[in-house]
Amino acid sequence: METGVQQYYAETQKLLDEIKSSEIKNVQELEQFRITYLGSKGKLKDVFALMKEVPAEEKKNFGQTLNTLKQEAESKYESLKEQFESASSKTTTNIDLTMPGEPVELGSRHPVTIVRKKIIDIFSSIGYTIAEGPEIEKDWYNFTALNFPPDHPARDMQDTYFVTEDQQWLLRTHTSNVQVRVMENQKPPIRVICPGRVYRNETISARSHCFFHQVEGLYVDKNVSFADLKQTLLYFAQEFFGKETKIRLRPSYFPFTEPSAELDVTCFICSGTGCPVCKGSGWVEILGCGMVDPQVLENCKIDSSVYTGFAFGMGIERIAMLKYQIKDIRLLSENDVRFLQQFESGW
Ligand code: DAH
Repeated sequence: METGVQQYYAETQKLLDEIKSSEIKNVQELEQFRITYLGSKGKLKDVFALMKEVPAEEKKNFGQTLNTLKQEAESKYESLKEQFESASSKTTTNIDLTMPGEPVELGSRHPVTIVRKKIIDIFSSIGYTIAEGPEIEKDWYNFTALNFPPDHPARDMQDTYFVTEDQQWLLRTHTSNVQVRVMENQKPPIRVICPGRVYRNETISARSHCFFHQVEGLYVDKNVSFADLKQTLLYFAQEFFGKETKIRLRPSYFPFTEPSAELDVTCFICSGTGCPVCKGSGWVEILGCGMVDPQVLENCKIDSSVYTGFAFGMGIERIAMLKYQIKDIRLLSENDVRFLQQFESGW
């Protein structure tokens, strides 16, 4: 090897020692290190320039030595940079470990959830169990078994979202579908309540929505009478709205109950004296009900000469709106936190 080349190796080695041993105490010194060795006019540049002078057979070897040198300088620079940065972020954030922690904000229950739970609790206390059914339903369960034959005008009472062209599958328009499913699968005595979401093809406004929630109730046994229905609903109304609440039943029509009725309760805002909530009448309507039509029992293979039953169904949003005097049903599905955080169960 020529002396010239040896000298180049010696220079490179000297630089490597220099880099390894240089002491860097702060960011300013690190910047100086970068300029001295890695900068565009730095010392590494100078030794890299020697490459031209090295004879061809020695180029590979010398090139490797240069690379080692460069890697050494770069990795020293990078690791010190990281070290200084993390040290400075620690000192500037100034964490005071004695400060009290941030409180975890608690959410509140949705008014629909509160009302649904209250209804479930009341009926559970008198022996009802919960039953659920599908939201995408067959015509049979939503309509036909409930005594809405095809082309029956009562089908028009409920604007239906059909899922299939042949109209055999639909989004259930009420939770009464669960009645049929339960009666097909269980033998009396049956005592269930069925909470769930329902869908209707209605224009969305302050008073109506295309989806909402209902709770259905069903009681089937021997000797179930209209008096049992009335007493059960009185119990419910007084538990829900207060002990002084009175009820009245008005004749109505549903295809699956005979006779059918609507239940009013004395207005819990004005106690019956007349106010905007009851529109001055002293009464507010809260649900539909009736004796299960014998044909519906038969459709579900329950012997209507042995068993009778009653059923009722109520809209949860409607009751929540009455209870909390909410003027617009849309608020119940928009999930505006400012609205939602006003409700605490208290029950
Ligand atoms: N399914 C009815 C509706 O959506 C509510 C209803 C009325 C349910 C009377 C019943 C009932 O079980 O007996 O309007």
